Amino acid sequence: MEKTKIVIANWKMCPVSIEGAKELFSAVQRTCSPKISAEVVVAPPFVYLTELVRLARSFGRGKNLRLGAQDCFWEQAGAYTGEVSPEILKTLGATHVLIGHSERRRYLKETDEMAQKKLAAALRIGIIPILCVGEDKSVRRKGLASAKQFVKKQLLTALRSVSQSGTRHELLVAYEPVWAISSVSGGKSDTPEEAVAMILWIKQLLGAHPFRLATRVLYGGSVNMKNAAGFMELEAIDGALVGDASLRAQEFCVIVKIASSFS
Ligand code: PGA
Repeated sequence: MEKTKIVIANWKMCPVSIEGAKELFSAVQRTCSPKISAEVVVAPPFVYLTELVRLARSFGRGKNLRLGAQDCFWEQAGAYTGEVSPEILKTLGATHVLIGHSERRRYLKETDEMAQKKLAAALRIGIIPILCVGEDKSVRRKGLASAKQFVKKQLLTALRSVSQSGTRHELLVAYEPVWAISSVSGGKSDTPEEAVAMILWIKQLLGAHPFRLATRVLYGGSVNMKNAAGFMELEAIDGALVGDASLRAQEFCVIVKIASSFS
């Protein structure tokens, strides 16, 4: 199993200007020196991708820093107003894409079936999907066993159409309990111990999957510079998906360094 930790910055709908995006990205770039052994992926709003890819290329170092998108559509081109395909993302230089984030499930009513189509489309074109799964509070209240069943359905539905080809696909899964995401919890994360219980469950399900998938499973939900070490020190947790704290350059860089020290 891969030991390198991966830290993904989910900028969501921020910052509100390209200048702000460039400034934040430059700070991350400066941190991602060759000394940093963790992998870092920054997922800005779509419209900043071109400029940030250009910045990344002109900087010329830090193979460990890549760019991703926060969503994609399931067709590669065509009459789909407002959508962005994995093919477009690849052309722009993105290497990763978030799929099924809970905020899209909540505000845009995205379903597991949509996640399934998006995931298959991303894999087909060679973009690494970061599939987001996680139960909300009403499910969690019923206990860990119910939460596990809920996550199992999200995961297995999304994976259903992954083709059984000879290619070894890479896939990241982010376990993000909805109740621990900072915009919902006010910054209160899950505990590393409970997160591990679910992550091991996800790994067990992935291990039983018949297809050839190289997978890593991350934790997301109010990760910050104070609690990051508690998650990163655990072998079962392959990295972190960071929202709010990724918008504070210094704090995000501390998280990257922590992840690196456990890589
Ligand atoms: P958070 O967001 O770190 O602000 O909780 C994580 C996410 O929603 O991906």
